[in-house]
Amino acid sequence: MKESFIVEGIGGKRVLEGNIPVRGSKNAVLPAMASSIIFNKPLTLTNVPDIEDVHRMAELLENLGAVPEQTKKREYVISGNKTHTSVMDEFLSKKMRASVILTGPLLARFKKITFPHPGGCVIGARPIDLFLSGFEKMGATVKEQKESFIVTAPKTGLKGANIFFHIPSVTASETFIMAAVLARGKTYLKNVALEPEVTALAEFLVSCGAKIEGIGTPMLEIVGTGGKLLSPKRVYKTIPDRLETGSFLVLAALAGKDVTITDCQPEHIEILTDMLIQSGVSIDIGKNTIRVQQSTKKNFRPFNIKTHEYPGFPTDIQAPTVVYLTQAKGDSLVFETIFEGRLQFTQDLVKMGADITLWDAHRAMIKGPTPLKGREVDGPDIRAGLALLVAAVIAQGTSTINNVYYIDRGYEKIEERFRDIGITIERVVKEV
Ligand code: EPZ
Repeated sequence: MKESFIVEGIGGKRVLEGNIPVRGSKNAVLPAMASSIIFNKPLTLTNVPDIEDVHRMAELLENLGAVPEQTKKREYVISGNKTHTSVMDEFLSKKMRASVILTGPLLARFKKITFPHPGGCVIGARPIDLFLSGFEKMGATVKEQKESFIVTAPKTGLKGANIFFHIPSVTASETFIMAAVLARGKTYLKNVALEPEVTALAEFLVSCGAKIEGIGTPMLEIVGTGGKLLSPKRVYKTIPDRLETGSFLVLAALAGKDVTITDCQPEHIEILTDMLIQSGVSIDIGKNTIRVQQSTKKNFRPFNIKTHEYPGFPTDIQAPTVVYLTQAKGDSLVFETIFEGRLQFTQDLVKMGADITLWDAHRAMIKGPTPLKGREVDGPDIRAGLALLVAAVIAQGTSTINNVYYIDRGYEKIEERFRDIGITIERVVKEV
């Protein structure tokens, strides 16, 4: 059984009106759920989005013996203290790259883990060399067995180390923050990712007693507890999803008459709002809202983007921004520096009528504006899936977006929120 979205395009008109709320950040809540393993009592998480990846992380935790309980809408209580094994289920782990985040807390707590390569997907190979070399620096030994890794820490537990990430990896930063919090001695993490989701995790752990200096800078100094678990002195409140915010911003810019994005954190998406304002979009920024009204400009100006680690242009917002640039008047160059497969989805936009030339796996030239026509397309990943949905909304005619599971991985009941601002969209089940 496969699900698809059927979308009636509005053919370039600007008719969407109303409020669209942003849910909790997928990339913040997943590491927070994994952190339940380093606590001695149940951890409460709020503003948890109802998305597939949260369900997968709950299944992974349950498989390890933890007890994740959804106590009410968008709230979980996870008894990570009940975890009793550190052998990660291969089938479950491969469903989601973020499963790799569990390796840090598990190894720090159980001193031995077995986990499969989390696997890559269409956006890239997604190696895990930073994880394996980091664990070795903390005194562990790594053994590769078929498709799995067995990592064993010293009997006295992981020891503090000096780890320089050759790439500021988001999940590697989160994994080693949690490993270092329980390690024996001091750890220096250098070239740490600065994404808000990493900062939110570190700040939460400090609020529960962890000793982490330098949060928000590329270098963290962490004094480990020597194996003593943290106590959950606070509730973890998931920050708004800046990636949802970005996609809704593009949608409102292209098809909005008067749309307000609510429950968001505008400062996390400043680079995009700034570029869209310069391009001609009429944007009013509030404390937790962004209002987009129909632009008085006849054409949007094009602009170039080069994806970069935070606070640079987020790779996860590249796809919806490409859709926007197909409607700007002129040439735009997109340079995707992070993932080698993340421009593949543009072939579906070309099928819909966009004028996009891929110079290589990392660079695309977009010529606009080009009217888009409704088509049947397959969303290849979470972010491109939503970008194709946005393209379908502005297109002329009906579109079918397949692989809705990908969109559901990162966006809570997106069709309900889209309907609330005037989009005609149906979720249909197709027998395969
Ligand atoms: C996180 O993935 C996000 N996922 C991704 O969002 C996001 O695209 C990415 O960061 C970049 O911002 C979560 O937070 C759950 P990386 P992550 O390690 O941590 C290379 C989404 O749609 N690398 O920061 O896996 C890697 O190949 C997802 O929500 C190594 O070389 O990404 C990439 O080129 C997609 N060796 C670069 O680092 C390693 O050991 C950055 O990747 C690890 C990563």
